[in-house]
Amino acid sequence: MIFKSFKKDKSSLQREQSEQQPQSNIHTLEERALDFFNEIYSYGDLKEILYRGILSEHNVNILLVGPPATSKSLFLQCIHEKLKDCVYYDAVNSSGPGIIQDLTNHRNTRIILIDEIDKLNRKDQVVFYNLMETGEIIITKKDNKINFTMDNPKIFATSNGIEHLNKPLRSRFSIYRLQEYSDKDFIKISVHLITSKFHFPSILSALIAQLLLEKGEKDIRKVLNIAKLIRPDDDVNKIKKIIETYLKYQDSHD
Ligand SMILES: Nc1ncnc2c1ncn2[C@@H]1O[C@H](COP(=O)(O)OP(=O)(O)O)[C@@H](O)[C@H]1O
Ligand SMILES: [Mg+2]
Repeated sequence: MIFKSFKKDKSSLQREQSEQQPQSNIHTLEERALDFFNEIYSYGDLKEILYRGILSEHNVNILLVGPPATSKSLFLQCIHEKLKDCVYYDAVNSSGPGIIQDLTNHRNTRIILIDEIDKLNRKDQVVFYNLMETGEIIITKKDNKINFTMDNPKIFATSNGIEHLNKPLRSRFSIYRLQEYSDKDFIKISVHLITSKFHFPSILSALIAQLLLEKGEKDIRKVLNIAKLIRPDDDVNKIKKIIETYLKYQDSHD
């Protein structure tokens, strides 16, 4: 199982927020939300909602659903990097009982992050029902008995779709649907990422995004993978050729 975790006492989140404020001169909640998720481009409104969810004293459970490369995982990564009292699980490499077993070591965790929760099989999803309602974890099996109560933890999770999620699990989440980027946003986000990560001139970044769009591609991951191959002296024809070759050898199911 892949997981990373940090623990901190319960009031530390609030302390962390108030400590950050004077240093960065950020005042409103909206500004703090934008700063918290500053690695992510766009989604200003959603950033504020997630930030409010993080700060809330209540039992907030949020599921981000959407197509690949819409920054769902990046949202969880930002939370994981910036907050210390949270645990992160990649459900692709985890099982429900595995997560629960690990939580026995992180009983005071405030936020449980689960990336691609739809990868848990349906039987394993059941373990979260009680946890999300009451914080209680009860597993009674012949060789495995676990029974403890967590203090009102929140679950923030991602999923490509909701088809593979049991209805009771789905209904315990507030679901936020991220849409595939519009052509305009795809170009804006690509240009932002390529110029900031690879220091390409924005006109060249826009060209790469535009060429991919023309090929019917809107996956930011592909933009970044192609950008890694471009050299400073490549001309437009060369860049076109690299993109064509890259796409030629891609699995059509990607
Ligand atoms: N709005 C965005 N801002 C910054 N990076 C983004 C954005 N959208 C996608 N990316 C980049 O695209 C890649 C895929 O994002 P990721 O969060 O893994 O997507 P998802 O989990 O939705 O499939 C990452 O490298 C991420 O940095
Ligand atoms: Mg992801």
